[in-house]
Amino acid sequence: MKTQILSVTPQSLAYAKELIASGEVVAFHTETVYGLGADARNDQAVKKIFTLKGRPADNPLIAHVHTGYDISSLVETPPYTARLREKFLPGPLTMVYPSKRKVSSYVSCGLTTLSLRVPSSPTAQAFLKAVDIPIAAPSANRSKHVSPVTAQHVADDFDGDIPLILDGGVCTGGIESTVLDCTGKIPSILRAGLVTKEMIAAEVGACDVYVPQEGEKPKSPGMAYKHYAPSCRTAFFNKEEWENAIKCYLTEQGKGGTPFFLCEHSFVEEHPGLYALDLGETPEEMAARLYAHLRTGERCATLLIGIEPRQSGGVMDGVRNRMLRAFGQSEKRGARS
Ligand code: TXA
Ligand code: MG
Repeated sequence: MKTQILSVTPQSLAYAKELIASGEVVAFHTETVYGLGADARNDQAVKKIFTLKGRPADNPLIAHVHTGYDISSLVETPPYTARLREKFLPGPLTMVYPSKRKVSSYVSCGLTTLSLRVPSSPTAQAFLKAVDIPIAAPSANRSKHVSPVTAQHVADDFDGDIPLILDGGVCTGGIESTVLDCTGKIPSILRAGLVTKEMIAAEVGACDVYVPQEGEKPKSPGMAYKHYAPSCRTAFFNKEEWENAIKCYLTEQGKGGTPFFLCEHSFVEEHPGLYALDLGETPEEMAARLYAHLRTGERCATLLIGIEPRQSGGVMDGVRNRMLRAFGQSEKRGARS
Protein backbone atom coordinates (compact mmCIF):
# COMPACT_ATOMS: atom_id res chain seq x y z
CA MET A 1 0.00 0.00 0.00
CA LYS A 2 1.25 3.47 -0.81
CA THR A 3 1.03 5.94 2.09
CA GLN A 4 0.09 9.46 1.03
CA ILE A 5 0.89 12.48 3.19
CA LEU A 6 -1.63 15.20 2.29
CA SER A 7 -2.43 18.59 3.75
CA VAL A 8 -6.05 19.38 4.53
CA THR A 9 -8.04 20.36 1.43
CA PRO A 10 -11.63 19.59 0.39
CA GLN A 11 -10.16 16.80 -1.78
CA SER A 12 -8.05 15.17 0.95
CA LEU A 13 -10.95 15.40 3.40
CA ALA A 14 -13.30 13.73 0.90
CA TYR A 15 -10.68 10.99 0.43
CA ALA A 16 -10.29 10.59 4.21
CA LYS A 17 -14.06 10.28 4.58
CA GLU A 18 -14.18 7.62 1.88
CA LEU A 19 -11.37 5.65 3.53
CA ILE A 20 -13.01 5.80 6.97
CA ALA A 21 -16.36 4.70 5.49
CA SER A 22 -14.65 1.69 3.93
CA GLY A 23 -13.17 0.63 7.30
CA GLU A 24 -9.66 1.98 6.67
CA VAL A 25 -7.34 3.75 9.08
CA VAL A 26 -6.32 7.42 8.61
CA ALA A 27 -3.63 9.23 10.62
CA PHE A 28 -4.42 12.84 11.58
CA HIS A 29 -2.83 15.78 13.37
CA THR A 30 -3.98 16.88 16.81
CA GLU A 31 -2.58 19.56 19.13
CA THR A 32 -0.95 16.86 21.30
CA VAL A 33 0.37 14.04 19.06
CA TYR A 34 -0.76 12.45 15.77
CA GLY A 35 -3.64 9.95 16.03
CA LEU A 36 -4.34 6.74 14.10
CA GLY A 37 -8.08 6.95 13.48
CA ALA A 38 -10.85 4.59 12.41
CA ASP A 39 -14.67 4.43 12.61
CA ALA A 40 -15.36 3.79 16.32
CA ARG A 41 -18.64 2.01 15.42
CA ASN A 42 -16.96 -0.54 13.15
CA ASP A 43 -15.52 -3.60 14.94
CA GLN A 44 -13.21 -4.58 12.09
CA ALA A 45 -11.87 -1.04 11.63
CA VAL A 46 -11.14 -0.72 15.36
CA LYS A 47 -9.46 -4.13 15.43
CA LYS A 48 -7.27 -2.98 12.54
CA ILE A 49 -5.84 -0.22 14.77
CA PHE A 50 -4.82 -2.76 17.41
CA THR A 51 -3.19 -4.98 14.78
CA LEU A 52 -1.32 -2.15 13.07
CA LYS A 53 0.07 -0.81 16.34
CA GLY A 54 0.73 -4.18 17.95
CA ARG A 55 -1.33 -2.81 20.84
CA PRO A 56 -2.30 -5.08 23.77
CA ALA A 57 -5.99 -6.04 23.46
CA ASP A 58 -6.81 -4.74 26.96
CA ASN A 59 -5.67 -1.15 26.38
CA PRO A 60 -8.75 0.97 25.49
CA LEU A 61 -8.88 3.70 22.85
CA ILE A 62 -10.12 7.28 22.98
CA ALA A 63 -13.05 8.26 20.75
CA HIS A 64 -12.56 11.66 19.09
CA VAL A 65 -15.45 13.93 18.08
CA HIS A 66 -15.85 17.45 16.62
CA THR A 67 -16.97 20.45 18.68
CA GLY A 68 -20.59 20.25 17.51
CA TYR A 69 -21.04 16.52 18.18
CA ASP A 70 -23.79 15.57 20.65
CA ILE A 71 -21.80 13.52 23.17
CA SER A 72 -24.92 12.72 25.22
CA SER A 73 -25.73 10.20 22.47
CA LEU A 74 -22.57 8.27 23.44
CA VAL A 75 -22.10 8.71 27.20
CA GLU A 76 -23.72 9.71 30.51
CA THR A 77 -22.44 13.13 31.58
CA PRO A 78 -22.18 13.70 35.36
CA PRO A 79 -23.16 17.34 36.23
CA TYR A 80 -19.65 18.61 37.10
CA THR A 81 -18.33 17.59 33.69
CA ALA A 82 -20.22 20.43 31.95
CA ARG A 83 -17.96 22.99 33.60
CA LEU A 84 -14.83 21.10 32.54
CA ARG A 85 -15.99 20.83 28.93
CA GLU A 86 -16.82 24.52 28.84
CA LYS A 87 -13.44 25.52 30.24
CA PHE A 88 -11.06 23.07 28.55
CA LEU A 89 -12.68 21.81 25.32
CA PRO A 90 -11.76 21.73 22.58
CA GLY A 91 -8.29 20.95 23.92
CA PRO A 92 -5.89 18.39 25.39
CA LEU A 93 -8.29 16.88 27.95
CA THR A 94 -9.78 13.38 27.52
CA MET A 95 -12.75 12.64 29.77
CA VAL A 96 -13.77 9.10 30.73
CA TYR A 97 -17.56 8.73 31.11
CA PRO A 98 -20.05 5.92 31.73
CA SER A 99 -20.67 4.55 28.23
CA LYS A 100 -24.02 4.18 26.50
CA ARG A 101 -22.40 1.40 24.44
CA LYS A 102 -23.08 3.02 21.08
CA VAL A 103 -19.60 2.37 19.69
CA SER A 104 -17.77 -0.91 19.06
CA SER A 105 -17.01 -2.77 22.30
CA TYR A 106 -13.42 -3.06 21.04
CA VAL A 107 -12.89 0.69 21.61
CA SER A 108 -13.12 0.36 25.40
CA CYS A 109 -11.91 -3.26 25.46
CA GLY A 110 -15.12 -4.35 27.15
CA LEU A 111 -15.04 -1.69 29.91
CA THR A 112 -18.33 0.03 30.84
CA THR A 113 -16.73 3.44 30.26
CA LEU A 114 -15.85 5.41 27.12
CA SER A 115 -13.19 8.09 26.88
CA LEU A 116 -13.96 11.08 24.67
CA ARG A 117 -11.68 13.77 23.34
CA VAL A 118 -12.47 16.96 21.38
CA PRO A 119 -9.13 18.09 19.93
CA SER A 120 -8.56 21.78 19.17
CA SER A 121 -6.29 21.28 16.16
CA PRO A 122 -8.01 22.78 13.07
CA THR A 123 -6.86 19.76 11.03
CA ALA A 124 -8.45 17.37 13.52
CA GLN A 125 -11.64 19.40 13.63
CA ALA A 126 -11.87 19.54 9.81
CA PHE A 127 -11.39 15.75 9.62
CA LEU A 128 -13.87 15.00 12.43
CA LYS A 129 -16.47 17.36 10.93
CA ALA A 130 -16.03 15.79 7.49
CA VAL A 131 -16.69 12.28 8.80
CA ASP A 132 -19.19 13.39 11.50
CA ILE A 133 -18.82 10.13 13.47
CA PRO A 134 -16.74 9.21 16.55
CA ILE A 135 -13.22 8.28 15.51
CA ALA A 136 -11.33 5.84 17.72
CA ALA A 137 -7.67 6.85 17.76
CA PRO A 138 -4.58 6.05 19.78
CA SER A 139 -1.32 7.87 19.22
CA ALA A 140 -0.01 7.00 15.72
CA ASN A 141 3.12 5.12 16.80
CA ARG A 142 3.94 1.44 17.00
CA SER A 143 3.09 0.19 20.48
CA LYS A 144 5.86 1.07 23.01
CA HIS A 145 7.58 3.47 20.59
CA VAL A 146 7.81 7.26 20.98
CA SER A 147 4.58 9.12 20.10
CA PRO A 148 4.67 11.07 16.80
CA VAL A 149 4.60 14.86 16.63
CA THR A 150 5.12 15.25 12.85
CA ALA A 151 3.58 13.53 9.81
CA GLN A 152 7.05 12.16 9.03
CA HIS A 153 7.20 10.45 12.44
CA VAL A 154 3.94 8.68 11.56
CA ALA A 155 5.39 7.65 8.19
CA ASP A 156 8.54 6.39 9.93
CA ASP A 157 6.38 3.89 11.84
CA PHE A 158 3.62 3.11 9.29
CA ASP A 159 4.87 3.86 5.77
CA GLY A 160 3.27 1.33 3.41
CA ASP A 161 0.78 0.13 6.04
CA ILE A 162 -1.80 2.95 6.06
CA PRO A 163 -3.26 4.83 3.06
CA LEU A 164 -3.31 8.42 4.35
CA ILE A 165 -1.68 10.80 6.81
CA LEU A 166 -3.47 14.16 7.11
CA ASP A 167 -0.57 16.55 7.65
CA GLY A 168 -1.32 19.41 10.02
CA GLY A 169 2.32 20.28 10.76
CA VAL A 170 4.07 19.90 14.09
CA CYS A 171 2.01 19.06 17.20
CA THR A 172 2.72 22.01 19.48
CA GLY A 173 1.41 20.43 22.72
CA GLY A 174 3.88 17.59 22.40
CA ILE A 175 2.61 15.16 25.06
CA GLU A 176 -0.68 13.25 24.99
CA SER A 177 -3.88 14.62 26.51
CA THR A 178 -4.65 14.48 30.21
CA VAL A 179 -6.92 11.46 30.80
CA LEU A 180 -9.52 12.27 33.46
CA ASP A 181 -11.84 9.69 34.99
CA CYS A 182 -15.23 11.40 35.34
CA THR A 183 -17.19 8.38 36.56
CA GLY A 184 -16.83 9.19 40.29
CA LYS A 185 -17.98 12.09 42.50
CA ILE A 186 -14.58 13.77 42.14
CA PRO A 187 -12.67 13.68 38.85
CA SER A 188 -9.46 11.69 38.96
CA ILE A 189 -6.41 12.01 36.69
CA LEU A 190 -5.41 8.71 35.08
CA ARG A 191 -2.69 10.23 32.85
CA ALA A 192 -1.06 13.61 33.48
CA GLY A 193 -0.91 16.11 30.62
CA LEU A 194 -1.18 19.78 29.71
CA VAL A 195 -4.45 20.25 31.60
CA THR A 196 -3.23 19.88 35.17
CA LYS A 197 -4.72 18.77 38.47
CA GLU A 198 -4.54 22.37 39.71
CA MET A 199 -6.41 23.69 36.63
CA ILE A 200 -9.17 21.08 37.03
CA ALA A 201 -9.50 21.59 40.80
CA ALA A 202 -9.80 25.35 40.22
CA GLU A 203 -12.94 24.70 38.14
CA VAL A 204 -14.73 21.96 40.09
CA GLY A 205 -13.30 22.26 43.60
CA ALA A 206 -11.27 19.03 43.77
CA CYS A 207 -9.30 16.64 41.60
CA ASP A 208 -7.65 13.35 42.57
CA VAL A 209 -4.66 11.69 40.98
CA TYR A 210 -5.20 7.97 40.53
CA VAL A 211 -2.41 5.73 41.80
CA PRO A 212 -2.96 2.00 41.16
CA GLN A 213 -2.71 -0.07 44.31
CA GLU A 214 -0.38 -3.06 44.53
CA GLY A 215 -1.94 -6.02 42.68
CA GLU A 216 -4.90 -3.96 41.36
CA LYS A 217 -5.77 -3.93 37.64
CA PRO A 218 -4.96 -0.31 36.69
CA LYS A 219 -7.92 1.89 35.66
CA SER A 220 -5.96 3.25 32.71
CA PRO A 221 -4.32 0.11 31.34
CA GLY A 222 -2.06 2.09 28.99
CA MET A 223 -0.10 3.46 31.92
CA ALA A 224 1.01 -0.02 32.92
CA TYR A 225 2.94 -0.65 29.74
CA LYS A 226 6.51 0.21 28.77
CA HIS A 227 6.18 3.22 26.54
CA TYR A 228 7.81 6.05 24.65
CA ALA A 229 11.06 4.11 24.28
CA PRO A 230 13.61 5.32 21.72
CA SER A 231 15.30 2.51 19.80
CA CYS A 232 18.86 3.48 20.81
CA ARG A 233 20.66 2.57 24.06
CA THR A 234 19.76 4.85 26.96
CA ALA A 235 20.98 5.83 30.41
CA PHE A 236 19.29 8.03 32.99
CA PHE A 237 20.61 10.13 35.87
CA ASN A 238 18.96 12.03 38.71
CA LYS A 239 19.45 15.79 38.68
CA GLU A 240 22.03 15.56 41.50
CA GLU A 241 24.06 12.98 39.57
CA TRP A 242 25.24 15.17 36.71
CA GLU A 243 28.91 14.38 37.41
CA ASN A 244 28.23 10.67 36.85
CA ALA A 245 26.25 11.57 33.74
CA ILE A 246 29.29 13.35 32.33
CA LYS A 247 31.53 10.38 33.17
CA CYS A 248 29.07 8.14 31.33
CA TYR A 249 29.17 10.51 28.31
CA LEU A 250 32.98 10.53 28.22
CA THR A 251 33.19 6.73 28.57
CA GLU A 252 30.85 6.30 25.58
CA GLN A 253 32.89 8.81 23.58
CA GLY A 254 36.10 7.02 24.57
CA LYS A 255 34.69 3.83 23.06
CA GLY A 256 34.13 5.64 19.75
CA GLY A 257 30.39 6.12 20.31
CA THR A 258 28.29 9.26 19.85
CA PRO A 259 26.55 10.08 23.14
CA PHE A 260 23.89 12.81 23.37
CA PHE A 261 22.36 14.32 26.49
CA LEU A 262 18.62 14.91 26.65
CA CYS A 263 18.28 17.60 29.28
CA GLU A 264 16.89 20.99 30.17
CA HIS A 265 18.47 24.20 28.93
CA SER A 266 20.32 25.13 32.13
CA PHE A 267 22.37 21.91 31.93
CA VAL A 268 23.28 22.64 28.29
CA GLU A 269 24.42 26.12 29.28
CA GLU A 270 26.47 24.84 32.20
CA HIS A 271 28.25 22.21 30.05
CA PRO A 272 29.07 23.79 26.69
CA GLY A 273 30.77 21.72 24.00
CA LEU A 274 28.89 18.48 24.72
CA TYR A 275 26.31 17.06 22.31
CA ALA A 276 22.88 17.76 23.77
CA LEU A 277 19.23 17.77 22.77
CA ASP A 278 17.97 20.85 24.60
CA LEU A 279 14.49 20.50 26.11
CA GLY A 280 14.27 24.22 26.82
CA GLU A 281 13.36 26.08 29.99
CA THR A 282 9.61 26.10 30.60
CA PRO A 283 7.43 23.02 31.22
CA GLU A 284 5.49 23.79 28.01
CA GLU A 285 8.72 23.97 25.98
CA MET A 286 9.87 20.66 27.44
CA ALA A 287 6.52 19.01 26.62
CA ALA A 288 6.65 20.35 23.06
CA ARG A 289 10.21 19.14 22.41
CA LEU A 290 10.42 15.82 24.28
CA TYR A 291 9.15 13.35 21.66
CA ALA A 292 10.83 15.07 18.70
CA HIS A 293 14.14 14.94 20.62
CA LEU A 294 13.66 11.26 21.55
CA ARG A 295 13.15 10.49 17.85
CA THR A 296 16.21 12.56 16.87
CA GLY A 297 18.19 10.83 19.62
CA GLU A 298 17.44 7.39 18.26
CA ARG A 299 18.71 8.47 14.82
CA CYS A 300 21.85 10.30 15.92
CA ALA A 301 23.03 8.90 19.25
CA THR A 302 24.64 5.57 20.12
CA LEU A 303 23.74 6.35 23.73
CA LEU A 304 21.04 8.83 24.81
CA ILE A 305 21.67 10.09 28.34
CA GLY A 306 18.61 11.55 30.06
CA ILE A 307 19.00 13.96 32.95
CA GLU A 308 16.05 14.41 35.29
CA PRO A 309 14.56 17.91 34.94
CA ARG A 310 14.86 20.14 38.01
CA GLN A 311 11.25 21.33 38.01
CA SER A 312 8.20 19.34 39.07
CA GLY A 313 4.44 19.92 39.55
CA GLY A 314 1.86 21.22 37.07
CA VAL A 315 2.67 20.43 33.44
CA MET A 316 6.02 18.97 34.58
CA ASP A 317 4.13 15.99 36.09
CA GLY A 318 3.21 14.92 32.54
CA VAL A 319 6.67 15.68 31.12
CA ARG A 320 8.49 13.80 33.91
CA ASN A 321 6.15 10.83 33.62
CA ARG A 322 6.81 10.48 29.85
CA MET A 323 10.54 11.12 30.18
CA LEU A 324 11.07 8.63 33.01
CA ARG A 325 9.12 5.98 31.14
CA ALA A 326 11.03 6.62 27.91
CA PHE A 327 14.19 5.86 29.88
CA GLY A 328 12.69 2.81 31.57
CA GLN A 329 12.57 4.46 35.01
CA SER A 330 9.85 3.96 37.59
CA GLU A 331 8.32 7.28 38.63
CA LYS A 332 8.53 6.46 42.31
CA ARG A 333 12.26 5.80 42.17
CA GLY A 334 13.15 8.36 39.54
CA ALA A 335 16.56 6.74 39.76
CA ARG A 336 19.47 6.20 37.43
CA SER A 337 19.86 3.32 35.02
O1 TXA B 1 -3.51 13.21 23.09
C1 TXA B 1 -4.01 12.08 23.04
O2 TXA B 1 -4.75 11.63 23.94
C2 TXA B 1 -3.71 11.22 21.81
C3 TXA B 1 -4.33 11.89 20.58
C4 TXA B 1 -4.19 11.09 19.33
O3 TXA B 1 -5.68 12.18 20.83
N1 TXA B 1 -4.19 9.89 21.97
C5 TXA B 1 -3.61 9.00 22.81
O4 TXA B 1 -4.18 7.75 22.78
O5 TXA B 1 -2.67 9.28 23.51
P1 TXA B 1 -3.45 6.46 23.41
O6 TXA B 1 -4.30 5.32 22.97
O7 TXA B 1 -2.03 6.45 23.03
O8 TXA B 1 -3.65 6.63 24.95
C6 TXA B 1 -4.95 6.53 25.53
C7 TXA B 1 -4.85 6.36 27.02
C8 TXA B 1 -4.32 4.99 27.41
O9 TXA B 1 -3.48 5.13 28.54
C9 TXA B 1 -5.61 4.23 27.77
O10 TXA B 1 -5.36 3.20 28.69
C10 TXA B 1 -6.47 5.34 28.35
O11 TXA B 1 -6.16 6.48 27.57
N2 TXA B 1 -7.91 5.08 28.18
C11 TXA B 1 -8.64 5.07 27.04
N3 TXA B 1 -9.92 4.75 27.28
C12 TXA B 1 -10.03 4.54 28.61
C13 TXA B 1 -11.09 4.17 29.48
N4 TXA B 1 -12.31 3.94 29.02
N5 TXA B 1 -10.82 4.06 30.80
C14 TXA B 1 -9.57 4.29 31.28
N6 TXA B 1 -8.51 4.65 30.51
C15 TXA B 1 -8.74 4.77 29.19
MG1 MG C 1 -0.03 6.12 22.98
